Parts: sequence; C-alpha cells; structure tokens
Amino acid sequence: MLEFNTLDDFDLRGKTVLLRVDINCPLHKDTLEIEDDNRIQQIMPTLKELLRKGAKVVILAHQGRPGDWDFIPLDRHAKVLSRLLGKEAKYVDDLLGRTALDAIRSIAPGDAIILKNVRELPYEQDKKSMEEHSKMELVTTLAPLFDIYVNDAFGASHRSQCSLVGFQAVLPSAAGRLMEKELKALGQVFSSQARPSVFILGGAKFGDSVKVIDRILGKKIADWVIIVGVTGNAFLKARGVKLGAPSEEFLVKEMTPEDLVAAKKLLLEKGEKIILPYDVAIEIEGRRRDILVGDLPQDYPVLDIGRESIEKFSRVIAAAGTVFMSGPAGMIEKEPFTLGTKDLMLAATHSKAFTVIGGGHTVSAAERYGLFHKFSYVSTGGGALETYLLGKPLPVVEALKAAKNRRCPSK
Ligand code: 3PG
Ligand code: MG
Repeated sequence: MLEFNTLDDFDLRGKTVLLRVDINCPLHKDTLEIEDDNRIQQIMPTLKELLRKGAKVVILAHQGRPGDWDFIPLDRHAKVLSRLLGKEAKYVDDLLGRTALDAIRSIAPGDAIILKNVRELPYEQDKKSMEEHSKMELVTTLAPLFDIYVNDAFGASHRSQCSLVGFQAVLPSAAGRLMEKELKALGQVFSSQARPSVFILGGAKFGDSVKVIDRILGKKIADWVIIVGVTGNAFLKARGVKLGAPSEEFLVKEMTPEDLVAAKKLLLEKGEKIILPYDVAIEIEGRRRDILVGDLPQDYPVLDIGRESIEKFSRVIAAAGTVFMSGPAGMIEKEPFTLGTKDLMLAATHSKAFTVIGGGHTVSAAERYGLFHKFSYVSTGGGALETYLLGKPLPVVEALKAAKNRRCPSK
C-alpha cells in the first residue's frame, strides 16, 4: 500500500480540486515563448483524469523566480494547456483577490482554470514546515474553497514552499499521476531489481557528486558508476590526470580543494566500481581530436568523452539490467562534442535494461536526438532528482504522507 493518497482514493465528481503542478519551463530568451513544453505534457494525464471524473480544477503553478528574466505570468502556459486539452483552460491573472475567488466559485464540473504565478506572493518561497505554511494567507484564503488538494509537482518536490506543502496540513490531499509515476520509476531504479545496475553521471556541475556516488555504491544501489562530463574531468583530475589549462581553470570554479580531497578518497575506497574516461575529445582550431587521457596537450579544452571510452562504456551499458543517466557526457550545444552523450543514450536505448534519464539538459538532449520515447522513463526532475539521489526526504512527499488519513467527508 502506498504511503500517500492518490486520485484512486477520492470520489472526484463535482469536487473542487486545487492542483499544484510544476510547469516551470525553459523559455526563449528574447520572445519569452515556452521553448520546451515537456513538463506541461507530463501533467496532462492527471489534469485529464480530474476533468473526466467531473472535478472543477484550479491549477496553481510557478515559473522562474522573482527578479529573474524567466519570471513571467502563466498566460503562455495556459495557451499550451488549452491546446493539449483541446478546450480552454482559462488564465486568471489573480491569486487571492476578488477576481480569483469569483473565478474559482464559478467553475463548472469538467472545467479548469489556471491562476497567476504563485511566486508573486512574497512568502511563497520561504522554507518552512507544512504547519507554518498552512497559516499563510494563500492557504487560509484558498483552502475553504476546495475539497481536495492534489500535488503533481514532482519537479519541485524538494522545495518546502507554501503552495507545495501548506495545503496538506488542512485539506484532504493526494499525489497526482505524474508524482506517482516518478516515485515508482525511481523506486525501481533504486531497488535495482534488474542487475547489473549502471549509473551514468555527468553534466556541467560537480555539486554533490562525491556524496551521491559514495551513497549509491555504498548502499549497493549501483554496481557500476560511469562518470562523464565536467564531473568526469573532476575525477580524472583527482586521479592525477593533467587536463590542460582551460579545463583545469573551469574546474577551479566548480570544485573546492576539499572536494578534490573527497574525490580522491572516494576513488581510493570505491575506485574499482567507478569507471572514468580513458580518452577524451579536445577542441583544436574548431575541430575534434580524440586523445588518451595520459597524452593530453595542455592548451585545449576537454569537451567530450573520447571514442574509445564510448565503446567501452557502451559495452557495460549493453550488459546492464538497469541504467540511470543524469547529466550529459560533453558539450551538447556544440556539434562534434555531442557524440558521447548521443552514443551513450543509444547504447542505453538499444539495451534490454530498464532505462531512466533525468535532468533538464539530459532530457533536452534526448529530445533533440529523437530518443525521448525510447527510454523506459524520463523524469521531469532536476533538483528533485538530485535530492532523491542523495537519499534525502522530499518535503512534498513527506507532506502528502502526513496527510494520508485526511479524507473527504463523502468518502
Ligand atoms: C525547477 O525547475 O527546478 C523547479 O521548478 C523548482 O524551481 P526552483 O529551482 O526555482 O525552486
Ligand atoms: Mg531548480
């Protein structure tokens, strides 16, 4: 039995449902148009099911952060939602005022509206407990108008913010279908029923990678960890490889001296399970050159893993039962350096393994290569996925669990 309620636990007919989603999307820098609507597509099963079952749905969401260029109202999101729904999801440019309250009270069963960017509220992003958040105006004003709160915002589930955890303290609450699916797929990767389990970790940020790798190997969640991208460079440096000035300079910004010590220690303790690139691709006068890591000239940037590494990693991936990939292997914006990311994805999708990818850049790369639908599961999580990888609780999931026993009067 699940530790939280789902849409199956409630009779939804005629109910007013507050649906919190994560449709925070990458936007075009000049036009501010939505560039990738994947997160909107992924909440459609929940939204369609609620409407089909006769609920009156009010969508609550955020885009960007106040002060950032991509902090915009949600009218563009409403247009995409309406297109995907095949009927209008009306945008209401208000949250707690008369306009919003009147709009909520007048929704018909089977209809949806979307309110203003919830991060317009100055306290929305405060990190507080569900009880503390439940006392804020957002919750005290809106909760009395709703029967059920549904949270389908997996991508923001690592945030303990007002609209994400406050309503679970006062309303019957359920996880949406996306939240369920995400947790199930990640549960499957982390219980690793199908062995060997291969984790490919890359990307441009070194971040918490030592902690993540130490955990997944220590807990035997992964049998092999393949490290690529800037993170791969960082571990190569920890192993004593001289990467050359451009890459070393970049790493100084990413890695503290303590990180380097921690990476060295991890390689000493668990190095036999960690696979690093044997060769890498550098850029010389605009062209790709694949060179063994021991022979690197010192004036050129390392921008991808090399062909020999791709071949060896692909053999490990082909024999896997579970593959998890987060973070590109090289520069996915620059043509000859997309090879590593693309070929490792091809190896994963050609294997018989249960394959999961996540992280914004990895997912966009999969889309660009036409491989998106070839993976067993594509996660909408970025920061949420990182939190999950570290084994830390997700506040939104914890709040849903705490609300498990709160039911609607009718059921
Ligand atoms: C995200 O895209 O990371 C989520 O929507 C959460 O947004 P945030 O990182 O701005 O809190
Ligand atoms: Mg984020």
